[in-house]
Amino acid sequence: MCITYLKDRRLFKLDTPHTTYVIGIVGEDGYPGHVYYGAYLEHMTGIEDVLRINEDPFTPDENARAKTAFLDSFPMEYAGHGVGDFRESAVRVKDAHGHSGVMLTYVSHEIIKGKEKLPGLPATFATEEEAATLKLYCKDEVTGLEAVLSYTVFEQVDAIARSVRFTNAGQEDLFLEKAMSCCLDMDNRDFEVLTLHGEATRERHKARRRLDYGSFSIGSVRGRSGHQDHPFMAVMIPETTEHQGEVYGFHFVYSGNFKATAAVNQFNSLRVLMGIHPEDFSWKLTSGESFQTPEVILTYSDKGLGGMTANLHQLYRNHLIRSKYLHRKRPILINNWEATYFDFNAEKLLDIAKESAALGIEMLVMDDGWFGNRYDDNRALGDWFVNEEKLNGGLKPLVEEINKLGMQFGIWFEPEMISEDSDLYREHPDWALSLPSRKPSLYRNQLVLDITRAEVREHILQQMFQVLHSANIAYVKWDMNRSLSDVGTAAWPADRQGEVYHRYVLGLYEMQERLLEEFPNLLLENCSAGGARFDPGMLYYSPQIWCSDDTDAIERLAIQESTAMLYPLSTMGAHVSVCPNHVMGRTTPFETRGMVALAGTFGYELDITRVSGEEKQMIARQVKLYHACNDIIREGDYYRLASYQENHLYDCFQINAPTGEECLVFYVQVLAEAKKRSRFITLQNLDKDADYLVYELEPQSDALWKEEGKRVSGAVLMKAGLQVERMKGDFQSRLYRLKRIECQETASTGSIAEQPA
Ligand code: DGJ
Repeated sequence: MCITYLKDRRLFKLDTPHTTYVIGIVGEDGYPGHVYYGAYLEHMTGIEDVLRINEDPFTPDENARAKTAFLDSFPMEYAGHGVGDFRESAVRVKDAHGHSGVMLTYVSHEIIKGKEKLPGLPATFATEEEAATLKLYCKDEVTGLEAVLSYTVFEQVDAIARSVRFTNAGQEDLFLEKAMSCCLDMDNRDFEVLTLHGEATRERHKARRRLDYGSFSIGSVRGRSGHQDHPFMAVMIPETTEHQGEVYGFHFVYSGNFKATAAVNQFNSLRVLMGIHPEDFSWKLTSGESFQTPEVILTYSDKGLGGMTANLHQLYRNHLIRSKYLHRKRPILINNWEATYFDFNAEKLLDIAKESAALGIEMLVMDDGWFGNRYDDNRALGDWFVNEEKLNGGLKPLVEEINKLGMQFGIWFEPEMISEDSDLYREHPDWALSLPSRKPSLYRNQLVLDITRAEVREHILQQMFQVLHSANIAYVKWDMNRSLSDVGTAAWPADRQGEVYHRYVLGLYEMQERLLEEFPNLLLENCSAGGARFDPGMLYYSPQIWCSDDTDAIERLAIQESTAMLYPLSTMGAHVSVCPNHVMGRTTPFETRGMVALAGTFGYELDITRVSGEEKQMIARQVKLYHACNDIIREGDYYRLASYQENHLYDCFQINAPTGEECLVFYVQVLAEAKKRSRFITLQNLDKDADYLVYELEPQSDALWKEEGKRVSGAVLMKAGLQVERMKGDFQSRLYRLKRIECQETASTGSIAEQPA
């Protein structure tokens, strides 16, 4: 069992393969204290001392004279509010008389096998053999608020999933005004914090800074996780690099408003909080009602950021992504968005499909513009019926033609939105979120549907179901192109308006669940104006998410690097598009565009009827390459070897096949340097006692790889490095495939083992 309770010491020990997490219950009142989180501890005699309960004046029961001094410094497992812990709280609750105050203390506990579902929320899952869950039952005696602090410990993965379930066990109404999913108090050992930031077309760029006295926060109050800050934070020792150093990662399995804080107090203690953003949040709990927070994933590694990445990839592949497509090679798709924008008809789509099918592309995705009177982005959202002028004869004949070409068909929806110029709005203007007496602010000329209402969700789903049942549709791209503003609804009473942001997200999750129930074979790709809702919550519903509307290969290096820091490559929507790139205006070689897209789900987003003969040949080769490499890319272990975001010159990553027999090394030279020398890149986790045949991608010929593989020892590749020959020109790329073979040298003599008989 990976959770043990040491009754005499009132300690809970939670073990994953390489980490230990310890909680202690302290004093007669039973304060749950955070004792330890870090590398695995086999023995823990004396560990309680780190709680400092023997240091004056902090003894809780004996020294009521200085109770606030205790509350303000004790490492709380889940910090209360208003009664003496002056640090930022994890929970805030207001009673029916307007008073705030809460301090949760231990009542009892339960240790169960496996993991319970979180009602209505995406969450990690595990069988009884794969995980165990500690449920700490706590209570605030005065308000009657009960809380179950849940900790799921995974048997095979160095990760812990935390969430909290609140119940009002009193008689009077309570208002939860803050309900974070995770609170972690640690002694500050001079930490740095890493977060991801951006904007539309520049998602998830890394930012690293030192933590000092005071509070550092990131978050979103936009109703979606957003382009700006990612619901992730890593706290690490300053020496941390890619492959060494201690890192604590926090990742929120949620797609709406969030806040993550790392605060250092007067004692140099660090408190990390993560959960739903308390701004505009209030949840009414009448007597007996409950509220479930989303969960936070905690992971610890002493093997640097790469160790954190490996843990998260393992967790998400095995315990978060449910889709049956997770381990399948996804169809190579061509999306018509950058090819046509709104200006297309059935004929144009068929032309694209014919050219694509001939080159081995496997699916056509019809993007925005096929419905209602959608000729531009000013209208028709909410009218999910086929625009017969564009698709005369409807969807069925078009899909049949495309299927005849041997291609599958996919379609775009933006189900959460409504245009003022739409039949839906004319019929139900009150279905848009809005504040009374205030004209709601438009973005892209659209408003947000009030999907907190069951009848709105039902109406949209029924329209979608009708479309999806009308033809053989294999894939849906679910888009969401604006943040929420004017968040008010007539559907909920005044004292529940603070629930709307979260109810919106619950409505979204319910809709996606229903869609997948209705179409169990559907391949769903989430998208939000590029990557504004690339988060673990959405991954529970779709195995892939569109990374960014910036399809420029060089910009994508940074976006995909940071995305892959948290998510498996198989989740990253990535396409080859035309040059000059529509966002950047930059021209990069077609090979490099292909190489970068190959490291994601892979597809095209260009007018294939207009590309040159030479580029068509390259597409056919890229298709072949995708089939040759995707199993490794999708299932393999990913290692970042060089970051263009950091060095501004080149990017390099390696993917080891799960069999251990092969690996791929991707290299992109962003800027050429005047130094006329090759570069050596040290590889990760090869067999030091084996040799490898290093094959380089053959740029032009029909064969993918150069015939002659160069023999290099695994030890040499890991210590001296793989030689990347000098390239001339910017934006050049190389791909290497390494095959493991038996070593020719004996370790002791260094002599050649293969002697003539
Ligand atoms: C934003 C998406 O990111 C694009 O790929 C495209 O689908 C447009 N929306 C369509 O409006």
